[in-house]
Amino acid sequence: MAPMRATHKKRVLFICYSLSGQTNGLLLHLAAGMEEEGVEVVIERLRPLKPIRFPLGSTRTTIAMMLITFFRNLVPIAPLSEKTKEQYDLIILAGPTWSYHPSGPILSLLKFDGKRLFPNQTVLPVISCRGYWRMHWLGLRQLLKKYSARVPNKIVFSHPSKEPWRTLGVFLKLAGKNPERSKFMGKFYPKYGHTSDQHEEAFRFGKMIGNALTEDQPIEKLNFRTPLAMP
Ligand SMILES: Cc1cc2nc3c(=O)[nH]c(=O)nc-3n(C[C@H](O)[C@H](O)[C@H](O)COP(=O)(O)O)c2cc1C
Repeated sequence: MAPMRATHKKRVLFICYSLSGQTNGLLLHLAAGMEEEGVEVVIERLRPLKPIRFPLGSTRTTIAMMLITFFRNLVPIAPLSEKTKEQYDLIILAGPTWSYHPSGPILSLLKFDGKRLFPNQTVLPVISCRGYWRMHWLGLRQLLKKYSARVPNKIVFSHPSKEPWRTLGVFLKLAGKNPERSKFMGKFYPKYGHTSDQHEEAFRFGKMIGNALTEDQPIEKLNFRTPLAMP
């Protein structure tokens, strides 16, 4: 008789930050897909010590935030929960792009908890952005490698609206306006952020990851660069 393979339910820790709910929406679908494949999902949300409200409220605050974040300022976060001290088969590290970099709470996490969380751990970054993610990805991968994490792949979701409406739309939304409701702009910019098609794609990615984990297949080979994720 063939020897029985010791199996345990695969466990995935999601560490995430979301200011305007976009990363969060993607992750809920990603998690649901994994759970459907029998994977246990544990979610740890990063909480800034001084909460940042969305929308930021004015044009001036939005410009200031864009400038500050360009210099990769850290946003201090509350201590992580005990759940993060357990063993996981995979960590999903998810958050938005802020001025071409990872967001401040994720930068804080890397700086203060990176040494404990990431050595020899498989980490799959998930990025939600309006479309400009390359510098974010390269910087994040470098930081994770510094902590000896294994980074087998990445998931990037861009907002599907066309330029220049996408950039203008994000800016106005952050400043507290509703560009999608404007008679003129609404024609080119029907929605801020990700669409329900992209949520379905995130669910499908979740199933792919869940399946790869349960079958002990490499995550490297999974194709997340699809036209729906990166239109
Ligand atoms: C301060 C700030 C800077 C941003 N800079 C970028 C950027 O450089 N590139 C980009 O593609 N999106 C940028 N965005 C847009 C967000 O990445 C995008 O709206 C994302 O979907 C938000 O995710 P969240 O709701 O989970 O926070 C920026 C957003 C903020 C708040």
